[in-house]
Amino acid sequence: MVFPQDRSCPYHPPTGYRPLSGQGPLTRVAFYDGRQVWAVTGHAEARALLTDRRLSSDRQNPAFPIPIERLEAIRRVRTPLIGVDDPEHNTQRRMLIPSFSVKRTAAMRPDIQRIVDGLLDRMLAQGPPAELVSAFALPVPSMVICALLGIPYGDHEFFEEQSRRILRGPTSEESEQARLRLEEYLTELIARKEREPGDGLLDELIADRLKEGSLAHRELVRLAMILLVAGHETTANMISLGTFTLLEHPERLARLRERPEQIPAAVEELLRFLSIADGLVRVATEDIEIGGVTIRADDGVLFPTSLINRDATAYPEPDALDWDRSARHHVAFGFGVHQCLGQNLARAEMEIALGSLFTRIPDLRLAAPAAEIPFKPGDTLQGMIELPVAW
Ligand code: HEM
Repeated sequence: MVFPQDRSCPYHPPTGYRPLSGQGPLTRVAFYDGRQVWAVTGHAEARALLTDRRLSSDRQNPAFPIPIERLEAIRRVRTPLIGVDDPEHNTQRRMLIPSFSVKRTAAMRPDIQRIVDGLLDRMLAQGPPAELVSAFALPVPSMVICALLGIPYGDHEFFEEQSRRILRGPTSEESEQARLRLEEYLTELIARKEREPGDGLLDELIADRLKEGSLAHRELVRLAMILLVAGHETTANMISLGTFTLLEHPERLARLRERPEQIPAAVEELLRFLSIADGLVRVATEDIEIGGVTIRADDGVLFPTSLINRDATAYPEPDALDWDRSARHHVAFGFGVHQCLGQNLARAEMEIALGSLFTRIPDLRLAAPAAEIPFKPGDTLQGMIELPVAW
């Protein structure tokens, strides 16, 4: 079986992955170049392996498996956080943790609410109909990450376009060019901030780390890039696909409208159910015995989160969208030392965005037949390309 495959329904795992269920918690699959890797589908085994230090995230390791051809270029750069192991990873992560803590994120809630309200005001004044990705799902996280980092939102069309190209290409050359353009933009922005300090996490890092020499210029630029890209694309997809999924489950949505206090549980279940980052990868640095197999040093390991999060031993009736269950322990944010740094922020954004959207526009509906609405191919973050809505 070849990975990744396109979904046939935007909120279910690809039907082509079905034969994997019942083949044990680990099985062999192939990437585009024929490379065989281990696919982990068991929930318990995935959580054990994601916390196993014998699996590495170092993309510069020649044995690191790259699932998609256009992402081959990522081997050339040392991607902070997500692409490095401890101790380097730990140093970078500790530097950023305070800015993404539960407390700091809670303090951002009023700002997030203001951003959401402003966008909904504009959408209501201009519509119906509306295209929800461009009018709401993308600008919410984009504005939030700009405010957090201290990046001018006026530049959003530029950085959203580059992020889209980094993730979706379509060619490896285009992905790489987009990465270089974004790197150049952030290098200039940081140089400007060094001369004229502003308000934001990048300004704090310049004052506390760059100036005192514990952070190199290039590392700061690359950290800024990963925070900017990871900070808006992912959440935008969760908001658009989450909205689509709720509209496709009208009884569940009606119950949520009656009991808005269930929104945090609904968001958690949507994270599990949608698993938009559907394919984390690692390389083994030593032999590992698990689930009746031996992963050999230099073997590639793939974590298809859509299958792990639907392991029936962890979640009975896994294909049902049901937030009365506890969806906690899902791996939609990964697990272990690389578990999503922005998860508190992402949860706050999703709760406020989805909660306000369905409260302010109670009769929101799809403005096109569900089957005709385009969604993203399997080789990128999962989500809607467009979401026409009316009310
Ligand atoms: C719902 C939205 C989001 C989803 C589903 C998501 C998913 C993920 C996943 C699966 C990982 C782990 C990757 C791995 O183990 O290889 C990750 C890591 C990361 N995420 Fe998120 N993410 C989301 C939102 C955000 C936001 C808002 C930020 C804010 C800046 C962010 C920043 C990061 C960073 C910096 C890492 C790397 C952490 C590390 O390696 O230590 N993410 N994310």
